Amino acid sequence: MTFKTGEARGNEIGLLDGLMTNRAMRRYSPEPVSEEDIWTCLQAAVQAPSGGNIQPYQFVVVQDSGMKVSLAEIYRRGWRRYEPAIAPAEFPNNTARESWERNNRATIHLAENLEHVPVLVLLLMPSIDMTVHDDEGPMPVGPTHASVYPAIQNFMLAARSLRLGTAMTTLHRIYEDEVRELVGIPQRYEILALLPLGHPTGKWGVAPRYRSPERITSWDRFGEKRVP
Ligand SMILES: Cc1cc2nc3c(=O)[nH]c(=O)nc-3n(C[C@H](O)[C@H](O)[C@H](O)COP(=O)(O)O)c2cc1C
Repeated sequence: MTFKTGEARGNEIGLLDGLMTNRAMRRYSPEPVSEEDIWTCLQAAVQAPSGGNIQPYQFVVVQDSGMKVSLAEIYRRGWRRYEPAIAPAEFPNNTARESWERNNRATIHLAENLEHVPVLVLLLMPSIDMTVHDDEGPMPVGPTHASVYPAIQNFMLAARSLRLGTAMTTLHRIYEDEVRELVGIPQRYEILALLPLGHPTGKWGVAPRYRSPERITSWDRFGEKRVP
């Protein structure tokens, strides 16, 4: 496939607007996602940077309802085990509590309805070591994950551009072997992420973040802060 740059593609939104408002979407309408839109997201994904430009990943696009039911069951089992282990014992204030509770309600909704999301995309990473060696030893320029997560993010941003929702999820990894077996994924791949993809029923907006850029950014020397 070749992507024509500058092609008029309808009512897409600006890149910065899209990424600033691309929060996790966990409630979806049953409206199907067009195959053309899925291809656009996949094309955007492979345009992401990867070490040596080798795109060391594969995708599995799941639309089959029986397969989605089985994936959702595995995901839910992971969620039921995970949820009690992460529930905070206390919150610094009511705003933090309400925000966590809102997020948790949406997370429960996704876990309980994953099979109804139109598309589930699995991102596979081969269990390879991309470290290059020379006579002096290994040159640790970045783990394999570093060449896969940018593609995941690009996929999610392309979806946002098309007004489709996604959410990065990894709870299936608790029972990853079962997912591998179910989908026929060879042992050599890790299933790094499961992205639900569909038309969201919620609203996009700038999500709260607890660390501001000025708090976590140094200028010229570690610890030298600036006020924007
Ligand atoms: C590595 C990783 C794993 C995640 N796993 C899950 C998951 O399994 N289920 C889920 O609902 N959200 C998952 N999330 C999504 C985060 O919870 C989400 O990014 C966070 O709540 C912020 O959402 P917001 O952008 O809407 O504020 C994951 C995010 C990351 C980066």
